[in-house]
Amino acid sequence: MNFDQQLDRTGTKCEKYDNRELIFGREDVIPMWVADMDFAAPEVVIEAFRKRLEHGVLGYTMLDSSCRQAICNWISQQHDWNVSPDWISLTPGVVPGVNLAIQAFSEPGDEVIVQPPVYYPFFAAVKNNNRKLIYNQLKIKHGRLEIDFEELERQAQKARLLLLCSPHNPGGSVWTMQELERIAEICIKNDLIILSDEIHADIVFNPARHIPTASISSETASRTITFMSASKTFNIAGLSTAYAITSDPDMQKRFKGELAKTQVGYCNLFGILGLEAAYRDGHPWLEKVMDYLKTNIDFAIDYINQNIPEIKVLRPQATYLLWLDCRQLGLSQSDLVSLFVDKAGVGLSNGEIFGPGGEGFMRMNLACPKSTLEKALQQIKLAFD
Ligand SMILES: Cc1ncc(COP(=O)(O)O)c(C=O)c1O
Repeated sequence: MNFDQQLDRTGTKCEKYDNRELIFGREDVIPMWVADMDFAAPEVVIEAFRKRLEHGVLGYTMLDSSCRQAICNWISQQHDWNVSPDWISLTPGVVPGVNLAIQAFSEPGDEVIVQPPVYYPFFAAVKNNNRKLIYNQLKIKHGRLEIDFEELERQAQKARLLLLCSPHNPGGSVWTMQELERIAEICIKNDLIILSDEIHADIVFNPARHIPTASISSETASRTITFMSASKTFNIAGLSTAYAITSDPDMQKRFKGELAKTQVGYCNLFGILGLEAAYRDGHPWLEKVMDYLKTNIDFAIDYINQNIPEIKVLRPQATYLLWLDCRQLGLSQSDLVSLFVDKAGVGLSNGEIFGPGGEGFMRMNLACPKSTLEKALQQIKLAFD
Protein backbone atom coordinates (compact mmCIF):
# COMPACT_ATOMS: atom_id res chain seq x y z
CA MET A 1 0.00 0.00 0.00
CA ASN A 2 2.68 2.45 -1.02
CA PHE A 3 0.88 5.15 -2.96
CA ASP A 4 4.11 7.13 -3.39
CA GLN A 5 5.45 4.40 -5.63
CA GLN A 6 5.67 5.25 -9.34
CA LEU A 7 4.17 2.35 -11.29
CA ASP A 8 4.96 2.38 -14.99
CA ARG A 9 1.60 1.98 -16.71
CA THR A 10 2.83 2.50 -20.26
CA GLY A 11 2.38 -0.44 -22.58
CA THR A 12 -0.23 -2.05 -20.31
CA LYS A 13 -3.20 -1.37 -22.63
CA CYS A 14 -3.93 1.49 -20.29
CA GLU A 15 -6.22 4.18 -21.63
CA LYS A 16 -4.79 6.99 -19.51
CA TYR A 17 -1.18 6.49 -20.69
CA ASP A 18 -1.31 4.51 -23.91
CA ASN A 19 -3.92 6.75 -25.55
CA ARG A 20 -2.06 10.02 -25.04
CA GLU A 21 -0.95 10.45 -28.64
CA LEU A 22 -4.54 10.14 -29.83
CA ILE A 23 -6.08 12.39 -27.17
CA PHE A 24 -3.40 15.06 -26.76
CA GLY A 25 -1.35 14.75 -29.94
CA ARG A 26 1.77 13.91 -27.95
CA GLU A 27 2.90 10.96 -25.87
CA ASP A 28 4.83 12.77 -23.20
CA VAL A 29 2.13 14.70 -21.28
CA ILE A 30 1.65 13.83 -17.63
CA PRO A 31 -1.77 12.16 -17.93
CA MET A 32 -4.30 13.53 -15.43
CA TRP A 33 -7.51 13.00 -17.33
CA VAL A 34 -9.56 9.75 -17.34
CA ALA A 35 -10.82 8.99 -13.83
CA ASP A 36 -8.72 6.12 -12.59
CA MET A 37 -5.91 6.04 -10.05
CA ASP A 38 -2.22 5.39 -10.73
CA PHE A 39 -2.24 2.99 -7.77
CA ALA A 40 -2.29 -0.80 -7.61
CA ALA A 41 -5.59 -2.37 -6.60
CA PRO A 42 -5.88 -3.66 -3.02
CA GLU A 43 -3.82 -6.75 -2.26
CA VAL A 44 -7.00 -8.59 -1.22
CA VAL A 45 -8.27 -8.23 -4.79
CA ILE A 46 -5.00 -9.39 -6.35
CA GLU A 47 -4.93 -12.35 -3.94
CA ALA A 48 -8.47 -13.39 -4.96
CA PHE A 49 -7.35 -13.34 -8.61
CA ARG A 50 -4.20 -15.34 -7.82
CA LYS A 51 -6.23 -18.00 -6.09
CA ARG A 52 -8.58 -18.24 -9.02
CA LEU A 53 -5.78 -18.41 -11.56
CA GLU A 54 -4.25 -21.27 -9.63
CA HIS A 55 -7.57 -23.06 -9.90
CA GLY A 56 -7.31 -22.44 -13.62
CA VAL A 57 -10.90 -22.76 -14.84
CA LEU A 58 -12.32 -19.48 -16.14
CA GLY A 59 -15.75 -20.52 -17.37
CA TYR A 60 -19.18 -18.88 -17.26
CA THR A 61 -19.82 -17.20 -13.97
CA MET A 62 -22.85 -16.14 -11.96
CA LEU A 63 -23.60 -13.44 -9.45
CA ASP A 64 -24.05 -15.79 -6.49
CA SER A 65 -25.65 -15.10 -3.14
CA SER A 66 -22.29 -14.56 -1.45
CA CYS A 67 -21.39 -11.72 -3.82
CA ARG A 68 -24.89 -10.23 -3.58
CA GLN A 69 -24.59 -10.27 0.21
CA ALA A 70 -21.16 -8.60 0.06
CA ILE A 71 -22.72 -5.77 -1.97
CA CYS A 72 -25.60 -5.39 0.52
CA ASN A 73 -23.24 -5.38 3.50
CA TRP A 74 -20.98 -2.79 1.89
CA ILE A 75 -23.84 -0.42 1.13
CA SER A 76 -25.30 -0.86 4.58
CA GLN A 77 -21.94 -0.16 6.29
CA GLN A 78 -20.85 2.66 4.02
CA HIS A 79 -24.14 4.39 3.35
CA ASP A 80 -26.58 3.16 5.95
CA TRP A 81 -28.96 1.88 3.26
CA ASN A 82 -30.51 -1.55 3.56
CA VAL A 83 -30.63 -3.19 0.15
CA SER A 84 -32.21 -6.56 -0.43
CA PRO A 85 -30.02 -8.96 -2.51
CA ASP A 86 -32.74 -9.45 -5.11
CA TRP A 87 -32.91 -5.73 -5.94
CA ILE A 88 -29.47 -5.99 -7.60
CA SER A 89 -28.79 -6.51 -11.31
CA LEU A 90 -25.29 -6.76 -12.68
CA THR A 91 -24.26 -4.54 -15.61
CA PRO A 92 -21.01 -4.33 -17.57
CA GLY A 93 -20.45 -0.81 -16.27
CA VAL A 94 -22.43 2.13 -14.95
CA VAL A 95 -22.64 3.74 -18.39
CA PRO A 96 -24.15 0.64 -20.06
CA GLY A 97 -26.55 0.47 -17.08
CA VAL A 98 -27.62 4.07 -17.59
CA ASN A 99 -28.18 3.40 -21.30
CA LEU A 100 -30.31 0.35 -20.54
CA ALA A 101 -32.32 2.31 -17.97
CA ILE A 102 -33.01 5.06 -20.50
CA GLN A 103 -34.35 2.37 -22.82
CA ALA A 104 -36.34 0.68 -20.07
CA PHE A 105 -37.98 3.76 -18.56
CA SER A 106 -38.56 6.15 -21.46
CA GLU A 107 -39.60 6.26 -25.09
CA PRO A 108 -37.86 7.83 -28.09
CA GLY A 109 -38.52 11.57 -28.06
CA ASP A 110 -38.94 11.74 -24.25
CA GLU A 111 -37.09 14.48 -22.40
CA VAL A 112 -34.23 13.53 -20.09
CA ILE A 113 -32.82 16.13 -17.69
CA VAL A 114 -29.06 16.21 -17.08
CA GLN A 115 -27.15 18.67 -14.92
CA PRO A 116 -24.09 20.00 -16.71
CA PRO A 117 -21.24 20.50 -16.43
CA VAL A 118 -21.43 16.75 -15.97
CA TYR A 119 -19.80 13.43 -16.86
CA TYR A 120 -20.11 13.67 -20.63
CA PRO A 121 -21.15 10.09 -21.57
CA PHE A 122 -24.54 11.09 -20.13
CA PHE A 123 -25.12 13.23 -23.22
CA ALA A 124 -24.39 10.38 -25.62
CA ALA A 125 -26.59 8.02 -23.58
CA VAL A 126 -29.55 10.34 -24.06
CA LYS A 127 -28.89 11.31 -27.68
CA ASN A 128 -27.91 7.87 -28.98
CA ASN A 129 -31.20 6.52 -27.67
CA ASN A 130 -33.09 9.28 -29.50
CA ARG A 131 -34.27 10.98 -26.33
CA LYS A 132 -34.21 14.74 -25.90
CA LEU A 133 -31.45 16.25 -23.80
CA ILE A 134 -32.57 18.95 -21.36
CA TYR A 135 -29.86 20.92 -19.57
CA ASN A 136 -30.48 21.94 -15.97
CA GLN A 137 -27.19 23.76 -15.68
CA LEU A 138 -25.49 23.85 -12.28
CA LYS A 139 -24.29 27.17 -10.90
CA ILE A 140 -21.22 27.88 -8.77
CA LYS A 141 -22.48 29.09 -5.39
CA HIS A 142 -20.96 28.85 -1.92
CA GLY A 143 -17.78 27.37 -3.44
CA ARG A 144 -19.49 24.41 -5.05
CA LEU A 145 -21.66 23.53 -8.02
CA GLU A 146 -25.30 23.83 -6.97
CA ILE A 147 -28.64 22.98 -8.54
CA ASP A 148 -30.92 25.59 -10.09
CA PHE A 149 -34.15 24.28 -8.56
CA GLU A 150 -36.44 26.91 -10.11
CA GLU A 151 -35.35 25.84 -13.56
CA LEU A 152 -35.56 22.16 -12.59
CA GLU A 153 -39.18 22.66 -11.46
CA ARG A 154 -40.08 24.11 -14.86
CA GLN A 155 -38.20 21.48 -16.86
CA ALA A 156 -39.62 18.59 -14.85
CA GLN A 157 -43.16 19.44 -16.00
CA LYS A 158 -42.46 17.92 -19.41
CA ALA A 159 -39.57 15.52 -18.78
CA ARG A 160 -39.66 11.76 -18.24
CA LEU A 161 -36.30 11.09 -16.54
CA LEU A 162 -33.76 12.85 -14.34
CA LEU A 163 -30.21 11.60 -14.77
CA LEU A 164 -28.60 12.55 -11.48
CA CYS A 165 -24.86 12.42 -10.79
CA SER A 166 -24.48 11.92 -7.05
CA PRO A 167 -21.79 12.75 -5.97
CA HIS A 168 -21.25 15.05 -8.89
CA ASN A 169 -18.47 14.70 -11.45
CA PRO A 170 -16.67 17.02 -12.29
CA GLY A 171 -17.50 19.48 -9.50
CA GLY A 172 -17.32 17.04 -6.60
CA SER A 173 -20.57 18.27 -5.01
CA VAL A 174 -22.16 15.91 -2.50
CA TRP A 175 -25.91 16.50 -2.48
CA THR A 176 -27.32 17.19 0.97
CA MET A 177 -30.48 15.67 2.41
CA GLN A 178 -32.25 18.97 1.79
CA GLU A 179 -31.18 19.02 -1.86
CA LEU A 180 -32.12 15.38 -2.38
CA GLU A 181 -35.51 15.93 -0.76
CA ARG A 182 -36.15 18.85 -3.09
CA ILE A 183 -35.11 16.78 -6.12
CA ALA A 184 -37.36 13.93 -4.99
CA GLU A 185 -40.29 16.25 -4.36
CA ILE A 186 -40.03 17.66 -7.89
CA CYS A 187 -39.71 14.20 -9.44
CA ILE A 188 -42.66 12.82 -7.47
CA LYS A 189 -44.86 15.79 -8.31
CA ASN A 190 -44.12 15.49 -12.03
CA ASP A 191 -43.88 11.69 -12.18
CA LEU A 192 -40.23 11.50 -13.24
CA ILE A 193 -38.05 8.44 -12.82
CA ILE A 194 -34.63 9.11 -11.29
CA LEU A 195 -31.51 7.43 -12.65
CA SER A 196 -29.02 8.01 -9.83
CA ASP A 197 -25.38 7.47 -10.80
CA GLU A 198 -23.63 6.95 -7.47
CA ILE A 199 -20.32 5.56 -8.75
CA HIS A 200 -18.35 8.10 -6.67
CA ALA A 201 -20.31 7.42 -3.47
CA ASP A 202 -17.39 5.92 -1.55
CA ILE A 203 -14.93 8.72 -2.30
CA VAL A 204 -16.46 11.41 -0.10
CA PHE A 205 -14.47 13.55 2.31
CA ASN A 206 -15.48 14.49 5.85
CA PRO A 207 -17.63 16.27 6.85
CA ALA A 208 -19.68 15.60 3.67
CA ARG A 209 -21.66 12.37 3.68
CA HIS A 210 -23.13 10.54 0.71
CA ILE A 211 -26.85 9.83 0.94
CA PRO A 212 -28.21 7.32 -1.58
CA THR A 213 -31.12 8.98 -3.37
CA ALA A 214 -33.34 5.92 -2.99
CA SER A 215 -32.74 5.80 0.75
CA ILE A 216 -34.44 9.08 1.55
CA SER A 217 -38.03 7.77 1.42
CA SER A 218 -40.00 4.79 0.13
CA GLU A 219 -41.81 7.06 -2.29
CA THR A 220 -38.47 8.15 -3.76
CA ALA A 221 -37.18 4.57 -3.84
CA SER A 222 -40.16 3.45 -5.87
CA ARG A 223 -39.14 5.73 -8.75
CA THR A 224 -35.34 5.43 -8.52
CA ILE A 225 -32.76 3.15 -10.05
CA THR A 226 -29.28 3.50 -8.51
CA PHE A 227 -26.00 2.68 -10.22
CA MET A 228 -22.97 1.76 -8.14
CA SER A 229 -19.68 -0.02 -8.63
CA ALA A 230 -16.43 -0.92 -6.89
CA SER A 231 -14.52 0.38 -9.89
CA LYS A 232 -13.76 3.95 -8.74
CA THR A 233 -13.53 3.06 -5.05
CA PHE A 234 -10.90 0.35 -5.50
CA ASN A 235 -9.43 1.36 -8.85
CA ILE A 236 -10.67 -1.71 -10.72
CA ALA A 237 -12.50 0.00 -13.60
CA GLY A 238 -10.81 -2.27 -16.15
CA LEU A 239 -12.94 -5.15 -14.85
CA SER A 240 -16.05 -3.63 -16.45
CA THR A 241 -18.41 -4.59 -13.67
CA ALA A 242 -21.11 -2.50 -12.01
CA TYR A 243 -24.60 -3.01 -10.67
CA ALA A 244 -28.02 -1.40 -10.63
CA ILE A 245 -30.41 -1.38 -7.69
CA THR A 246 -34.13 -0.79 -7.64
CA SER A 247 -36.60 -1.90 -5.01
CA ASP A 248 -39.67 -1.39 -7.17
CA PRO A 249 -40.85 -4.71 -8.67
CA ASP A 250 -42.17 -3.11 -11.85
CA MET A 251 -38.91 -1.19 -12.41
CA GLN A 252 -36.94 -4.38 -11.74
CA LYS A 253 -38.99 -6.22 -14.33
CA ARG A 254 -38.52 -3.52 -16.94
CA PHE A 255 -34.79 -3.14 -16.31
CA LYS A 256 -34.17 -6.90 -16.26
CA GLY A 257 -36.20 -7.16 -19.47
CA GLU A 258 -33.86 -4.69 -21.14
CA LEU A 259 -30.82 -6.61 -19.85
CA ALA A 260 -32.27 -9.84 -21.21
CA LYS A 261 -33.00 -8.25 -24.60
CA THR A 262 -29.39 -7.17 -25.07
CA GLN A 263 -27.97 -10.22 -23.23
CA VAL A 264 -25.38 -8.20 -21.35
CA GLY A 265 -26.38 -9.29 -17.86
CA TYR A 266 -23.71 -11.99 -17.60
CA CYS A 267 -20.79 -11.74 -15.24
CA ASN A 268 -17.20 -10.96 -15.85
CA LEU A 269 -15.52 -13.56 -13.61
CA PHE A 270 -12.74 -11.23 -12.44
CA GLY A 271 -15.22 -8.40 -12.13
CA ILE A 272 -17.24 -10.12 -9.46
CA LEU A 273 -14.23 -11.75 -7.80
CA GLY A 274 -12.66 -8.31 -7.48
CA LEU A 275 -15.85 -6.67 -6.33
CA GLU A 276 -16.53 -9.26 -3.64
CA ALA A 277 -12.96 -9.33 -2.32
CA ALA A 278 -12.80 -5.53 -2.20
CA TYR A 279 -16.17 -5.15 -0.50
CA ARG A 280 -15.38 -7.85 2.06
CA ASP A 281 -11.80 -6.97 2.94
CA GLY A 282 -10.84 -3.74 1.18
CA HIS A 283 -11.86 -1.24 3.82
CA PRO A 284 -8.34 -0.64 5.25
CA TRP A 285 -7.04 0.08 1.71
CA LEU A 286 -9.88 2.53 1.10
CA GLU A 287 -9.15 4.38 4.35
CA LYS A 288 -5.49 4.74 3.39
CA VAL A 289 -6.20 5.84 -0.16
CA MET A 290 -8.75 8.41 1.07
CA ASP A 291 -6.09 9.93 3.35
CA TYR A 292 -3.66 10.04 0.45
CA LEU A 293 -6.20 11.63 -1.90
CA LYS A 294 -7.13 14.20 0.73
CA THR A 295 -3.46 15.15 1.16
CA ASN A 296 -3.06 15.50 -2.61
CA ILE A 297 -6.19 17.66 -2.83
CA ASP A 298 -5.05 19.94 0.01
CA PHE A 299 -1.60 20.21 -1.51
CA ALA A 300 -2.89 21.04 -5.02
CA ILE A 301 -5.36 23.64 -3.76
CA ASP A 302 -2.72 25.37 -1.58
CA TYR A 303 -0.18 25.27 -4.40
CA ILE A 304 -2.57 26.74 -6.96
CA ASN A 305 -3.84 29.44 -4.59
CA GLN A 306 -0.29 30.51 -3.78
CA ASN A 307 1.43 30.09 -7.12
CA ILE A 308 -1.16 30.16 -9.91
CA PRO A 309 -3.79 32.63 -8.63
CA GLU A 310 -5.25 33.00 -12.15
CA ILE A 311 -6.84 29.59 -11.56
CA LYS A 312 -9.75 29.41 -9.12
CA VAL A 313 -10.31 25.97 -7.62
CA LEU A 314 -13.45 24.40 -6.21
CA ARG A 315 -12.67 22.22 -3.21
CA PRO A 316 -14.26 18.84 -4.05
CA GLN A 317 -16.47 17.31 -1.36
CA ALA A 318 -16.07 14.03 -3.24
CA THR A 319 -13.96 12.43 -6.01
CA TYR A 320 -10.25 12.88 -6.70
CA LEU A 321 -10.99 15.35 -9.47
CA LEU A 322 -10.25 19.06 -9.31
CA TRP A 323 -12.44 21.43 -11.35
CA LEU A 324 -10.23 24.31 -12.35
CA ASP A 325 -11.88 27.62 -13.18
CA CYS A 326 -9.57 29.28 -15.72
CA ARG A 327 -12.08 31.82 -17.05
CA GLN A 328 -10.10 34.73 -15.66
CA LEU A 329 -7.43 34.09 -18.29
CA GLY A 330 -9.90 35.07 -21.00
CA LEU A 331 -8.54 32.45 -23.41
CA SER A 332 -10.52 30.59 -26.05
CA GLN A 333 -11.03 26.94 -25.08
CA SER A 334 -8.55 25.74 -27.68
CA ASP A 335 -5.90 28.18 -26.40
CA LEU A 336 -6.62 27.06 -22.84
CA VAL A 337 -6.17 23.40 -23.78
CA SER A 338 -3.00 24.28 -25.67
CA LEU A 339 -1.62 26.12 -22.63
CA PHE A 340 -1.96 22.98 -20.50
CA VAL A 341 -1.04 20.40 -23.15
CA ASP A 342 1.57 22.11 -25.32
CA LYS A 343 3.13 24.59 -22.91
CA ALA A 344 2.79 22.78 -19.56
CA GLY A 345 2.93 19.21 -20.89
CA VAL A 346 0.03 18.12 -18.69
CA GLY A 347 -2.95 16.16 -20.05
CA LEU A 348 -6.13 17.31 -18.29
CA SER A 349 -9.75 16.83 -19.37
CA ASN A 350 -11.08 19.69 -21.45
CA GLY A 351 -13.90 21.33 -19.46
CA GLU A 352 -15.90 21.99 -22.60
CA ILE A 353 -16.74 18.32 -23.08
CA PHE A 354 -18.72 18.39 -19.82
CA GLY A 355 -21.32 20.55 -21.57
CA PRO A 356 -22.76 23.99 -20.76
CA GLY A 357 -20.89 25.58 -17.89
CA GLY A 358 -17.69 23.74 -18.77
CA GLU A 359 -16.20 26.43 -20.99
CA GLY A 360 -13.12 28.01 -19.43
CA PHE A 361 -12.63 25.04 -17.10
CA MET A 362 -10.26 22.06 -17.02
CA ARG A 363 -10.56 18.90 -14.90
CA MET A 364 -7.49 17.52 -13.17
CA ASN A 365 -7.21 13.96 -11.81
CA LEU A 366 -5.18 13.93 -8.58
CA ALA A 367 -5.10 10.17 -7.96
CA CYS A 368 -1.39 9.82 -8.54
CA PRO A 369 1.80 9.73 -6.47
CA LYS A 370 2.48 13.08 -4.82
CA SER A 371 5.74 13.43 -6.81
CA THR A 372 3.76 13.26 -10.09
CA LEU A 373 1.34 15.88 -8.81
CA GLU A 374 4.19 18.18 -7.73
CA LYS A 375 5.84 17.88 -11.14
CA ALA A 376 2.58 18.60 -12.97
CA LEU A 377 1.81 21.66 -10.84
CA GLN A 378 5.34 23.01 -11.30
CA GLN A 379 5.02 22.59 -15.07
CA ILE A 380 1.66 24.38 -15.04
CA LYS A 381 3.12 27.23 -12.98
CA LEU A 382 6.03 27.59 -15.41
CA ALA A 383 3.66 27.68 -18.38
CA PHE A 384 1.53 30.33 -16.68
CA ASP A 385 4.60 32.38 -15.74
C1 LIG B 1 -20.23 9.79 -12.90
C2 LIG B 1 -19.62 8.63 -13.60
N1 LIG B 1 -20.41 7.62 -14.01
C3 LIG B 1 -19.89 6.54 -14.64
C4 LIG B 1 -18.54 6.43 -14.88
C5 LIG B 1 -17.99 5.25 -15.62
O1 LIG B 1 -18.59 4.09 -15.19
P1 LIG B 1 -18.33 2.70 -15.89
O2 LIG B 1 -16.87 2.64 -16.23
O3 LIG B 1 -18.73 1.70 -14.86
O4 LIG B 1 -19.20 2.65 -17.10
C6 LIG B 1 -17.67 7.45 -14.47
C7 LIG B 1 -16.24 7.38 -14.73
O5 LIG B 1 -15.50 8.33 -14.62
C8 LIG B 1 -18.24 8.57 -13.80
O6 LIG B 1 -17.48 9.58 -13.37
